[in-house]
Amino acid sequence: MISIARFTVEGLKENCVTDNPHPMFAFYYESEDQSIIDHAIFTLSNGYKKELKDEVSLIYDGPKFDAYTRYEATLAAVDNKGNETSKTIYFETGKLSSSWEGKWITDGSYEFTDKGISPRIMTFRKKVMMEKEIKEAKIYATAIGVYRIDLNGAKVGNAFLKPGFTSYANNLMYQVYDVKEQLKNGQNDLVVNVGGGWAVGAFVFTRVNRVYAARQALLLELRVKYTDGSEEVIPSDTSFDVSLEGPYVAGDLYDGECFDARVDYDKISYHKASLETMKLQPKIMADYSSDIVVNREMPHYEVKEINGKWRYDFKQNLAGVVHLHIKKAKAGQKIIVHHAEVLLKDGELNLDLLRTAKCTLEYICKDGEQDYTPEFTYMGFRYITIEGIAPEHVDVVAYHLTSDIEETGAFKCSNEMLNQLDSNIRWSSRNNFEDIPTDCPQRDERMGWTGDISIFAPTASYNFQMDRFLRKWLVDVKSEQLKSGSLPNTVPIHGYGFPATMPKMAIDFWGDAILTVPYALYEAYGDLDILKSFYPNMKKYVKAEKFWANIWGVGKYRYIWHTPALFHFGDWVSPDVDQMSAWQKRSKYTATASLRRCSQLLAHIASILGEKEDQAYYEKLSEKVKDAYVSVFTSDGKLKKEEFQTGYVLPLAFDMFEGQDKENALKNLVALIEKNDYCIGTGFPGTPYILFVLADNGYEDVAYKMLLNTKAPSWLYNVSVGGTTIWEKFDGMLADGTCRPSKDGTGNMVSFDHYASGSVGEFLYTRIAGLRIVEPGYKKFAIKPVLGGDITSVETSTLTPYGRINLSWKKEEGQFKLHVDVPMSTTCQVTLPNGEEQVLTYGCHDIACAL
Ligand code: BGC
Repeated sequence: MISIARFTVEGLKENCVTDNPHPMFAFYYESEDQSIIDHAIFTLSNGYKKELKDEVSLIYDGPKFDAYTRYEATLAAVDNKGNETSKTIYFETGKLSSSWEGKWITDGSYEFTDKGISPRIMTFRKKVMMEKEIKEAKIYATAIGVYRIDLNGAKVGNAFLKPGFTSYANNLMYQVYDVKEQLKNGQNDLVVNVGGGWAVGAFVFTRVNRVYAARQALLLELRVKYTDGSEEVIPSDTSFDVSLEGPYVAGDLYDGECFDARVDYDKISYHKASLETMKLQPKIMADYSSDIVVNREMPHYEVKEINGKWRYDFKQNLAGVVHLHIKKAKAGQKIIVHHAEVLLKDGELNLDLLRTAKCTLEYICKDGEQDYTPEFTYMGFRYITIEGIAPEHVDVVAYHLTSDIEETGAFKCSNEMLNQLDSNIRWSSRNNFEDIPTDCPQRDERMGWTGDISIFAPTASYNFQMDRFLRKWLVDVKSEQLKSGSLPNTVPIHGYGFPATMPKMAIDFWGDAILTVPYALYEAYGDLDILKSFYPNMKKYVKAEKFWANIWGVGKYRYIWHTPALFHFGDWVSPDVDQMSAWQKRSKYTATASLRRCSQLLAHIASILGEKEDQAYYEKLSEKVKDAYVSVFTSDGKLKKEEFQTGYVLPLAFDMFEGQDKENALKNLVALIEKNDYCIGTGFPGTPYILFVLADNGYEDVAYKMLLNTKAPSWLYNVSVGGTTIWEKFDGMLADGTCRPSKDGTGNMVSFDHYASGSVGEFLYTRIAGLRIVEPGYKKFAIKPVLGGDITSVETSTLTPYGRINLSWKKEEGQFKLHVDVPMSTTCQVTLPNGEEQVLTYGCHDIACAL
């Protein structure tokens, strides 16, 4: 029997509201008896119809949708045995191009001029009368700031930090909430608290505030349909009241929150909200993000009294907030909660690593039993301390907050330390998918650093259904690309002007995200559309790279990109030189390698898109850069000036050496690694590639020795000292669990939740398990494990656009035994350890060979 196993619109199985005139539908089939799809018909309730064969996605290209309308999408399919199946999903259009009846409102009396902090929280309120029987009721809302809506005393929706983080000057999302169940006949109490969030609050380590507006503003419509056929819109306007005396006394993404539970919305003083003149004119679209929600509730495992405070340990570094269920308290009783990732030697929380972020909650109790969940902040922590209430009077859990992205991949092998490494990679992923891909969730950053996701996107796409989340971020990447072609180091740039003096300068490896992230989506999901859409942006970026490379040199030096090191990150956080300036000094190597990689990748993308002339142009450019790197920096495969791991890894990874030079370069790299006791010596640029370069070129043993090394700095050193997430620095923690003092000139730049070095995940899945993409979206894939270390078995799986690939292998009784489930419409090329090759098609396969 054939069935439709998954059917999504815009990446969602349900509750999709969209303003996209061309939404994307994705689906795949499964069949119990391995029948295959013969043909299918996709229909929409507006009459749109499309005949399909074995496609697994479709971009709607039919007539314009109507606003505020529910559509039904049906896929009906027939297999080659004549069996039929069908599935229907629903989605709704948002406002499309219809204008807002709601007006932007604010507290006109609030002059917020303080620097470095977030504004007071505005509380908007309106009593709404419902006199007729309600058929449908929806709130459409957005804000400059972040908001929480309460209707009749209960939170509307389950998402946090809406409207989400976008490049507000360009793009702003609104949300749609079905409130039919919450709205009642008679008088309703609508309360909206709006905090500063990213748009108005203090953000970025410089703590700039008011980046997008001088104060918060709210835009809302409550749209009601009655059973008698009439309709009503209650818009945000001057009939709303506003107050600065609500229970949220303070709220800031970095600093935390102060909530006074004694405050009664009926007893504070209000004045009339005023209309706000908006300086920004962003495109306001129905939410296309993945909501930040409570992914799981985490219990604590240990409570200890430390210097008059109660210290709780969740035994897992996570991003989110705590939830307090206070069993008994007196009005005015103050509870203070601090958060940290690691402890100091005396058992106190290490708060220094948070830098200026206070990460503190202050909760002022009312009488009796009560619950508290912070709303306008989140933290990265494993430990908290609580003051002001003893453990017997409060139940404490942590809410793990993360963008709602389905976890679609799994990995488990016979080496428990590698399994923990994989778990750490997953945790750091979820902890940093907070509406945008961030660098870390704890200190005063949490920014959309482009370099981090650029190297992590392939690993992320193996484990998670990343397309909706990354596509949303890419909207801002496109909006924020500079005219010069360069990309800000953080997207949204958000008042962070770096490089301040040279805003037009392209930055190697970080800017590369404009190519690498769309390409990762193309590879993992077969998303040709994203490649097409980003192609002009990619060309502009490579042009900018070339411009900056060309500007200060003649001859071959025109392809050596050596703009002043200060403006690049170079071999960022490489543990072999413990100085930021030394990482940056290596930028001529990393930047030149970046130009090679980007021009080479762009040539490949041009070939996919059939842009023959471009392809030839970028191939030529990448050849010139290759020649420059090799002849300027190396001689006979040896680095002339400074030998360092990344200096060899990048030209090897990007195919720059030939013949004997390549052999020599590999030997030189291996010699460096051996001298370094198989410890890692690469920064962000080299880390994703080092194991591949070794394992794919005959040095599998060296790759495994590095990967399985537990001496610092290494991936498994982290695991050996109890790490539960990936760290910014491989040796950031001492064996006693405290932080290694940082002397590298970055101040306290030591995060224990940074996914970038977790890019090694790609090696676990594609080399240890051996699952490799051959054609985009796994239409064709290969299984070719690289055996080594002490690994005797692996089980892994990932969800492809065609269905789930389950793969496991084990070494048993002198045999190598492999099991794979090949999805419908895909083919799999297996290369067994004895060199034997097989091509497999749809179905479950078990094969074996002698070891
Ligand atoms: C961030 C990084 C980022 C880097 C750029 C750091 O402060 O945490 O992950 O990519 O700066 O140099």
